[in-house]
Amino acid sequence: MEYVSVHGARVPSLGLGTWELEGEQCRRVVADAIELGYRHLDTAQAYGNEEQVGAGIRAAAVDRGELWVTTKVWIRSLAPDDVRRTTEESLRRLGSDYVDLLLIHWPVAMDILDATLAAMTALRDEGKVRHLGVSNFTPSQFERAVGLAPVVCNQVEYHPFLDQREVIAAARKHDAMVTAYSPLARGKVTADPVLAEVGQAHGKSAVQVALRWLVEQDGVSAVPKASSRGHLEANLAIFDFVLTGAQHERIAGLARGERLIDPPFAPDWDA
Ligand SMILES: NC(=O)c1ccc[n+]([C@@H]2O[C@H](COP(=O)([O-])OP(=O)(O)OC[C@H]3O[C@@H](n4cnc5c(N)ncnc54)[C@H](OP(=O)(O)O)[C@@H]3O)[C@@H](O)[C@H]2O)c1
Repeated sequence: MEYVSVHGARVPSLGLGTWELEGEQCRRVVADAIELGYRHLDTAQAYGNEEQVGAGIRAAAVDRGELWVTTKVWIRSLAPDDVRRTTEESLRRLGSDYVDLLLIHWPVAMDILDATLAAMTALRDEGKVRHLGVSNFTPSQFERAVGLAPVVCNQVEYHPFLDQREVIAAARKHDAMVTAYSPLARGKVTADPVLAEVGQAHGKSAVQVALRWLVEQDGVSAVPKASSRGHLEANLAIFDFVLTGAQHERIAGLARGERLIDPPFAPDWDA
């Protein structure tokens, strides 16, 4: 495992995404992941699986202190009282006294951003949340957020088919991390011939190259979702090879503005 250092925290650069994992399968995948060596888990109130993520954590029986657990406040719950109530519900479902990182899931309530972040900061001061962050914030929205509170992360869609240089630059300016979600372009990287060719030179798959390319970038972590033990293992086997500068550039050249997560309430990405 490699780590991203952010505001005094050490975040495993590869985590497990859990969107669309449900019920017993979610519990099993989380427990398997931890057993295989994952120490970073990504969930959200909106995924409806915090209870199963918590059950998986307990089944794996590692010290809570060894894990980095992220959850996200949903778009309807950004008023201060709702932030507190829903976060405390998340903690109950997860069966934990705290989360390592609490994110604003989407920037839909920018008019009350100061109040939302103040509520999150109060939870941090009480030890229920270790770090604050945001998700799906544009660079200018991120600038606003860091002016209001110690925000350590912007979690955004990021994979070889979507250039996120400006988002990364905005985060680095404030010593914050970018977490790449949908890092496998929801499975599409498997079919890319350039990623496959680069992988051949290292005895690795296109998926492993895509993940390696992300985590080799300064201040970037990634949270691929996987639902089989084989995929979990493959995605973790990316710390025994290094891409060359030329390979990095070649992969960056695959960017084609392919945004896969773009709901009606998404921000104007280019504003
Ligand atoms: N903040 C946000 O708004 C936001 C939005 C979207 C996602 N996320 C987070 O990011 C996580 C990951 O994103 P995602 O779930 O959209 O997609 P993803 O991680 O890019 O791709 C997941 C897909 O890749 C497949 N896969 C995984 N490992 C593989 C391997 N080694 N070989 C071949 N295929 C493989 C999975 O199949 P199997 O399931 O069959 O293994 C699944 O179909 C989410 O789970 C969630 O935690 C956050």
